[in-house]
Amino acid sequence: MNKTWWKESVIYQIYPRSFYDSNGDGIGDIKGITAKLDYLKELGIDVIWLSPIFKSPNADNGYDVSDYQDIMDEFGTMEDFDEMLEEAHHRGIKIMLDLVVNHSSDEHKWFIESRQSKDNPYRDYYIWHPGKENGEPPSNWGAMWGDSAWKYDEVSGEYYLHLFHEKQPDLNWENPTLREEVYKMMRYWLDKGIDGFRMDVINFISKVPGFPDGPMREGEKFGDGSPYFLNGPRIHEFLQEMNRETFSKYDTITVGEMPGVNIDQAKLYTGEERNELNMVFQFEHVDLGNGKYGKWTPGPWKLTDLKQILDRWQEGLATGGWNSLYWSNHDQPRAVSRWTPGAEEKYREKAAKMLATLLHNLQGSPYIYQGEEIGMTNVYFDSIDDYRDVETLNAYRDLYKEGKLTYDKMMKGIHERGRDNSRTPIQWDDREHGGFTTGTPWIQVNPNYKKINVKSALEDNTSIFYYYKKLIQLRKKHEVIVYGTYESVMKDSEEIYAYMRTLGENKLLVMANFMDGTPVFTLPSTLGFTSKEVLISNYEVSDEEDISSVVLKPYEARVYLLR
Ligand code: NOJ
Repeated sequence: MNKTWWKESVIYQIYPRSFYDSNGDGIGDIKGITAKLDYLKELGIDVIWLSPIFKSPNADNGYDVSDYQDIMDEFGTMEDFDEMLEEAHHRGIKIMLDLVVNHSSDEHKWFIESRQSKDNPYRDYYIWHPGKENGEPPSNWGAMWGDSAWKYDEVSGEYYLHLFHEKQPDLNWENPTLREEVYKMMRYWLDKGIDGFRMDVINFISKVPGFPDGPMREGEKFGDGSPYFLNGPRIHEFLQEMNRETFSKYDTITVGEMPGVNIDQAKLYTGEERNELNMVFQFEHVDLGNGKYGKWTPGPWKLTDLKQILDRWQEGLATGGWNSLYWSNHDQPRAVSRWTPGAEEKYREKAAKMLATLLHNLQGSPYIYQGEEIGMTNVYFDSIDDYRDVETLNAYRDLYKEGKLTYDKMMKGIHERGRDNSRTPIQWDDREHGGFTTGTPWIQVNPNYKKINVKSALEDNTSIFYYYKKLIQLRKKHEVIVYGTYESVMKDSEEIYAYMRTLGENKLLVMANFMDGTPVFTLPSTLGFTSKEVLISNYEVSDEEDISSVVLKPYEARVYLLR
């Protein structure tokens, strides 16, 4: 396996709107990020993934870009960006931008032109189609958030495709001129010195020509178009071309966000000889427990199911490709609340450390979502009026208002899985609004900010923050964490998550109790070693302790280096 810096890196995701507000308008901004770079340096991360900072009318908080080469007004100016980039590089921190090119905003000049007339030079930048003979949309596809994926445009008398919100028209990747525009824009940022891209739903960009109708599920208004746009016919050709035209000329880190991707496809996307991407975000584990209405009707899930998924990805990409490792991001609930809901009250700190231990010792590049390093939790707003996320509000409309879910069930779904859980502002200290802003925050701060905040984490050397810092340092020190092979241990346990990593003489044994009981860890009889050292643990443990059989405390996690 080739060794590279991005395999050895820990990436920290910033959702700028909720990170830190430097000017009191209630919205996080770029100067706010610059102000907190020393904090990130202290944590020890290598790369920042910045959620979109481009000009946008914010129908989807920046994932609807109206100018790819300008900065969102609320976030600041290009000078602020340049300063942040320089200051980050000065501290040895790389910057990865969010590339949102499956769609743009309908307020992008390309789309404004495109909708003028059928023969406008920009028409073909988007996916326009006449309706069926009876005037209905060209296909039965539903958009991600409830409506038809086709919107009729009165001016030119055709429909355009939008897989997300109607203000996010899909770009037409069949058009070589559009592709060249995108590559040019990417080179603009790379020439400025950014270090790579996270690519939004990048496995959606190639659609099956003709847009065939998708399967209809019972009770649904629209068909499922995903067989015709997920990992579509020209996707590898497009990514290889993008690679040739952009990354191959720079030293970058690239990760493709890919809902619905499986291991075989991931190998094609990330195989080193294929010149596409470095790694992908898969969704199998975060979809665990989804019910009839997907994440809005969450049900129970088993630890063995979680292990089985992550084991398959570890083993599947062991000989080609590379994993990205994450518990949470701006679309997912908070890690502790999602994965160890029973721990939130009494064992939040232990559970947060346990989850971090498991993730940071797997093979792949770990991602930390802002606030995870202090163990932030989901927010449980009582009223729908406190929510801001377009996906959540649309689900409320389509599922509760249309009578598919009771109010209580809907709110349960939102409390457990809604995207605003991870979008409440970072809790910097115990002042009003958690010290995030001196104004009125765009979304309320989680009321638990007095207890959970950065200031108190920094003052306590046993905090979750310092535990993350240590995990990051260990990764720099022990190659086995990055490059070691993976082997699952106690696969069938519903309480213990354990595995081995091996590189040459060095073996890493990771054992974690995922529950609040006291299960017994049993050392595999085949495992031989002559010396052992505890690298990290979330309870006091001595190197001397016999580990042939260990009674684990609630949410206990330990990592041993065995030789
Ligand atoms: C995935 C992004 O992570 C999400 O926040 C966004 O709403 C959709 N793609 C559409 O861009």
